[in-house]
Amino acid sequence: MTRIAVLGAGKIGESLLSGLLAAGRPAGDLVFTERHAERAAELTARLGVASSDVAGAAAKADVVVIAVKPQDIAPLLAELGAVLTPGTLVVSVCAGLPTALFEGAMPAGTPVVRVMPNTPMVVGEAMSALSAGAHATAEHLDRAEEILGAVGRVVRVPEGQQDAVTALSGSGPAYFFYLVEAMIDAGILLGLPRTVAADLIVQSAYGAACMLRDSADHPVLLREAVTSPAGTTIAAIRELERHGVRAALIDAIEAARDRSVELGRSVQTR
Ligand SMILES: NC(=O)c1ccc[n+]([C@@H]2O[C@H](COP(=O)([O-])OP(=O)(O)OC[C@H]3O[C@@H](n4cnc5c(N)ncnc54)[C@H](OP(=O)(O)O)[C@@H]3O)[C@@H](O)[C@H]2O)c1
Repeated sequence: MTRIAVLGAGKIGESLLSGLLAAGRPAGDLVFTERHAERAAELTARLGVASSDVAGAAAKADVVVIAVKPQDIAPLLAELGAVLTPGTLVVSVCAGLPTALFEGAMPAGTPVVRVMPNTPMVVGEAMSALSAGAHATAEHLDRAEEILGAVGRVVRVPEGQQDAVTALSGSGPAYFFYLVEAMIDAGILLGLPRTVAADLIVQSAYGAACMLRDSADHPVLLREAVTSPAGTTIAAIRELERHGVRAALIDAIEAARDRSVELGRSVQTR
């Protein structure tokens, strides 16, 4: 059984621990580190997973998952690099940090897998994209995929595509929240109570997402199936096109990609 250490048990780290437990991993195969003792004690009481310091966690683990904010990475890497057993798989979920940064701080030849997850991890529905570092083999990717698979779906991409992934699925949930928010506003404009408008839109979003995931049909076909001649949907679509919503979404996602590239550069030159 793989023993997994999660370094930094915030939103993502805690979600991962919960998902691994729910997927049947024994609590004894998991360990985590946290900066604040009260937070560590509260998590141990709730999840039954022990906390440790970095050296203790790294000594026992076959896989170390790094889940601290990018701005907290430098001291952690200095600490971890000094104690990591060569050959231990390092999985980073830190947005924008390249595998080379971890490889440079760890013993020579350390396999590193970079992951871009997203917030639906908290409900076990993450979309995670994995990229292999210079020393990570297919077997290391399999192991990382098994771990992230406990909290959602996983794809593999070359590391050069991680900025595009960040713009699409990393930030993606925010675009849907924004759309839902605007549609609830529309319901209020049409005279519906806020709670009713929210119920109507959230369930419609959920139903549409299930259809998109479970049907083999392209989104265009699913939309055409509810767009009848001279009907209500085509009247709405005409307005969306008139306001350039499609072009706005493409531009927005391109801007997110560019910002991800910019942030990555600033991390590497720091
Ligand atoms: N949330 C997302 O949507 C999302 C999506 C994709 C990727 N990510 C990536 O996932 C990582 C974690 O994000 P998050 O949202 O889970 O952040 P978070 O909630 O702030 O969690 C990070 C945790 O790590 C702790 N920590 C910091 N330095 C530490 C150290 N040296 N040793 C042990 N614990 C330490 C922090 O403690 P303190 O409370 O003291 O700071 C905090 O509890 C980030 O790199 C982020 O880029 C997040």
